[in-house]
Amino acid sequence: MTTSVRHFTDLWTLDGATLRTILDDAAARQLARKGWLQGRVDADAPARDRTLAMIFQKNSTRTRFSFDAAMRQLGGDVIISTANDMQLGRGETIEDTARVLSRMVDAIMLRANRHEDILALAEASTVPVINGLSDGGHPCQIMADLLTLETHRGPIAGKTLAWVGDGNNMCSSFIHAAPLLGYRLNIACPADYAPNPDDLARAWTHQGQVNVTTDPREAVEGADCVMADTWVSMGDLDTEQRLKTLAPYQVDGSLMDLAAKDGVFLHCLPAHRGEEVTAEVIDGPRSLIWDQAENRIHAQKSILAWCFGAI
Ligand code: CP
Ligand code: NVA
Repeated sequence: MTTSVRHFTDLWTLDGATLRTILDDAAARQLARKGWLQGRVDADAPARDRTLAMIFQKNSTRTRFSFDAAMRQLGGDVIISTANDMQLGRGETIEDTARVLSRMVDAIMLRANRHEDILALAEASTVPVINGLSDGGHPCQIMADLLTLETHRGPIAGKTLAWVGDGNNMCSSFIHAAPLLGYRLNIACPADYAPNPDDLARAWTHQGQVNVTTDPREAVEGADCVMADTWVSMGDLDTEQRLKTLAPYQVDGSLMDLAAKDGVFLHCLPAHRGEEVTAEVIDGPRSLIWDQAENRIHAQKSILAWCFGAI
């Protein structure tokens, strides 16, 4: 790996100052283009003459459209493919794919089944690699979520975030960023779907304020933000067991009542109303989900600008 290449694969490998730079740039870019048509290019066009390749091993709506829109707003272009349409789908290695694409594009975004494939791609690539979701994390989404919280509630440092449900890839990325940005993270998960122990150990080693409980009420008490995600992530096979075990972890109105008075609700989408969250909460006044979805564009523009060395 060329160490000077700016990969965006795992938040814990970055430092707090880098995440701060990206969040501040995203907020500024969002403000600067208020009222503009979606396709208009930002004044500095930091991706002019650059192409992003996007490879999908799993389905996507937000990641696909937001990265495409982001590159257009940065003045660049994209090439998009599912892995199955590529020779990857017939067994060509990730490493050879990385070497070939590195000669053709300026950055690669991969949505992968296995996190190891993101790391292998980054290792063999001479252009920046961005994790567009894997079983190990969803760092672009977490940046959009933190941008959303800061826009609505001010600086994230010192805030309390409550994660309720499956200790999945989203939960991992929130754990990764906790020690870097100084928020408290309360996680309520059943023992069978607890967060990755390596992620927790790393966060605790770096003084991350991350607490794990099996009691959703304890996690949500006084929280500035309550977050839920699907109980069955892409690639999970034990659907019936998950729906049963996670049933007590539904975010409903009475759980939200325990949060801070001005506490908000976030969900990365797609959502399953009546499972991880009630319609009353996700479609209610405390829910920020549509701003959160839009913020995928703003956050990723700044992630891309950082990868290109423009910020
Ligand atoms: N939240 C998110 O990543 O959505 P998609 O799966 O639609 O990309
Ligand atoms: N945890 C979910 C997030 C989807 C955006 C999944 O991995 O399927």
